[in-house]
Amino acid sequence: MADTPFPPDLVEDVRKRRTFGIISHPDAGKTTLTEKLLLFGGAIQLAGTVKARKSSRHATSDWMEVEKQRGISVTSSVMQFEYADHTINLLDTPGHQDFSEDTYRVLTAVDAAVMVIDAANGVEAQTIKLLEVCRLRNTPIITFINKLDREVKEPFDLLSEIEDVLRIECAPVTWPLGMGKRFGGVYHLLDDKVLRFVPGEEKRSEAEVIDGIDNPRLDADFPREIGQLRDDVELVSGASNPFSLEDFLAGRQTPVFFGSAINNFGVQEVLQALLDWAPPPQPRVAGVKGADARFVEPAEAPFTGFVFKIQANMDPRHRDRIAFFRICSGRYNSGMKVKHVRMGREMKLANALTFMANERVHKEDGVAGDIIGIHNHGQLQIGDTLSEGENLGFRGIPYFSPEMFRAARLRDPLKSKQLEKGLKELGEEGAIQVFELEGGNLLLGAVGQLQFEVVEQRLRDEYKVDAIFESADIYTARWLTFPDDLTRRNFEREQALRLGKDIDGNPVYLASTRYNLDVTMEKWPKVAFHATREHG
Ligand code: G4P
Repeated sequence: MADTPFPPDLVEDVRKRRTFGIISHPDAGKTTLTEKLLLFGGAIQLAGTVKARKSSRHATSDWMEVEKQRGISVTSSVMQFEYADHTINLLDTPGHQDFSEDTYRVLTAVDAAVMVIDAANGVEAQTIKLLEVCRLRNTPIITFINKLDREVKEPFDLLSEIEDVLRIECAPVTWPLGMGKRFGGVYHLLDDKVLRFVPGEEKRSEAEVIDGIDNPRLDADFPREIGQLRDDVELVSGASNPFSLEDFLAGRQTPVFFGSAINNFGVQEVLQALLDWAPPPQPRVAGVKGADARFVEPAEAPFTGFVFKIQANMDPRHRDRIAFFRICSGRYNSGMKVKHVRMGREMKLANALTFMANERVHKEDGVAGDIIGIHNHGQLQIGDTLSEGENLGFRGIPYFSPEMFRAARLRDPLKSKQLEKGLKELGEEGAIQVFELEGGNLLLGAVGQLQFEVVEQRLRDEYKVDAIFESADIYTARWLTFPDDLTRRNFEREQALRLGKDIDGNPVYLASTRYNLDVTMEKWPKVAFHATREHG
């Protein structure tokens, strides 16, 4: 670009960033794929490390009994690694469906996603939900169809399933040669090469790449499968869409790769696609105080970014809360002063963390696309913007309408102050949604049952409060906006019993049933009922 107004070093550093997350249904192979990706990046030396860490985390985190009991990971972290002259940030998302709300927020901080599909199961429930979230921001998606070393669904069926259920166009980039015991590799449609499957290999040798689909070597080596592959490829070339970078970047089309994560097969192609096709950090829209909203360019010199996740007690040795912060522009330097826009005051950013291969290391530098962890003592909330320059606020970090509700009751009524404090802090952290009802009672909302268990335990451990959660007769919540004050007052008068406020004081309608919601919406056509709300 001629005469770029941006500092050239920043432009260069941003260009090399790729920040992505992996979306999948539990057991599709996300952990395995993560591990292989880290292996390529040299971030870990041995296969099995992430898995081992996954379980050793249970052993060391004494604060989180639930995690131990359930044997699942409720923590989420960021892994940065270098690959082929790029800096890659992989944002891990909790796989358990009870924690989907957290996962959703992490997805607001990525520029691309890799979708892992278990080839035996096809598109599963959690994948559908997560894809919907990606769609909110048109996040580009690379698809990895995993477990071809098993007897799985036919590739054409898998592609139609993705297209029909997820409503995204598929552009196959590789195509499987057999499957299960007879899985021979994949044909790369763009390079016209067959990559031979060698189980469990870390680096592919030249001898395993066979040039040209008509190569007689293929007839010799795969006499039973090659005919089918040639027929498939002919059909694919005729019937499916060619890869279009533009459609991929707009979130309309997904390039599809086949492989076997556990065998490290097909993983490198996904990584290459991330480098070649996935976007570097993009401009992000922000509201500006006293001016029009505008796009903040990643290479603008003033430092900006937002908090997308707050996590407590990641490590029992550091009993603090960490705010995960996505840098949107400028450069982070340890000790720099920034504005906390919501609070309207200055803040010093020192000792921010990054989580390379899950070790806490001090990060001295960071640019757009990077994530830093800021020690937080309650001053930062999800959705908060920090800015070196203007008073601006990033948009688009969603709250989702909870699907489960509980009323909190104390065993010891004298502890109501602690309960309120605990719930308020856990609400700010995003562990649970907290609504205040008429008369001051607090109602908890969650996307999954496990969130209640975690909150109950943390109230006990961290706030010394013994609370009982009772079921509440609520079907769903909707955030309300009114066309004018009169409508608002009338609505409040009529619906007082079904109204509450969220943690930021926004009015919420708490419907008892789907029918109740429909009837109220019909009766009040001018009032808007929102199923999601943006933070801040
Ligand atoms: P997740 O994070 O998405 O939940 O999935 P994870 O990677 O833990 O993988 C789920 C299971 O699928 C694991 O088996 C894993 O070994 C297996 N798996 C992953 N990739 C492949 C593949 O390419 N082929 C085959 N056949 N299996 C694969 P597990 O028995 O649950 O765990 P483990 O005992 O193997 O660790």
